[in-house]
Amino acid sequence: MILYFSGCGNSKFVADELARLTNDRLTLINPMEPTPSVTLSADESLGFVCPVYSWAVPRIVSDYVSRLKINAIPSYTYLACTCGDNVGRTPERFAKVLKAKGIMLDAAFSFVMPETYINLKGFKLDTDENAARKINAVRERLPQVAERIGRHEKVVDVVRGKAPWLNTYVTNALFYSLLITDKKFYTTDRCISCGLCAKVCPLGNITMSGDYADPQGSAKQGLRPIWHGNCTNCMACYHHCPNNAIQFGKATQGKGQYTFKLI
Ligand SMILES: Cc1cc2nc3c(=O)[nH]c(=O)nc-3n(C[C@H](O)[C@H](O)[C@H](O)COP(=O)(O)O)c2cc1C
Ligand code: SF4
Ligand code: SF4
Repeated sequence: MILYFSGCGNSKFVADELARLTNDRLTLINPMEPTPSVTLSADESLGFVCPVYSWAVPRIVSDYVSRLKINAIPSYTYLACTCGDNVGRTPERFAKVLKAKGIMLDAAFSFVMPETYINLKGFKLDTDENAARKINAVRERLPQVAERIGRHEKVVDVVRGKAPWLNTYVTNALFYSLLITDKKFYTTDRCISCGLCAKVCPLGNITMSGDYADPQGSAKQGLRPIWHGNCTNCMACYHHCPNNAIQFGKATQGKGQYTFKLI
């Protein structure tokens, strides 16, 4: 069984492909499920596929895994994480979450995919050319990773980047306490009230309301999204908006959007 989480489609693509290539079944992680459970058959393996947020598995995913009830110890357990650049010590940190449940992480693989985080000055999306280059490299890597999963290889094959320990344990803590917020989201007059942002939010953090107070003072009427404070900055609402009507403070202005698609 493969459990996966994806904000903008990169990890969904990797999960879909690994499921196809290893002939495995796929289940979407619902971070809002209070008591999730999975039933593994005898000798079944368990894979986790998700993005890396600040050099670790997203907290909503590791919290979900901590709550997860599993009927049996998997025959083989692996992590396949997607990132824009590198993952630091994501596997080791995630291994501790599993160890607390009596499960050993046998393998970890990273897949460098187009960037989705643009909420800070200096952070930008990949050019179309760079995004295509990354996706093509991942498409080439997937069959050999699937083959290694198939033979239950015990390995950590990830791009760690510089200062991996510092990033995974120190920067990550600062990132969650200082930078993860939905207070800076707002919509511009480009909003067409379609409600897609609310639909794609994995945390159910957005509702549509007519009482929208536009910080830019526009008089445009109609339903607009309201963010309710339970956000992990996955950026799904921002990137999926069909009219690029969502902004995050000044940081996202003019940076464009990205969701996974095959070119
Ligand atoms: C909140 C957030 C934090 C991120 N942190 C990292 C990071 O530490 N290292 C990295 O290489 N990419 C980072 N990224 C980029 C994503 O990991 C990458 O684009 C991933 O493939 C997105 O997967 P998804 O499309 O399945 O959501 C971050 C993205 C977000 C939204
Ligand atoms: S997805 Fe964009 S256009 Fe649609 S309601 Fe949300 S902000 Fe408005
Ligand atoms: S509000 Fe937007 S950024 Fe926050 S969790 Fe929902 S979709 Fe992701």
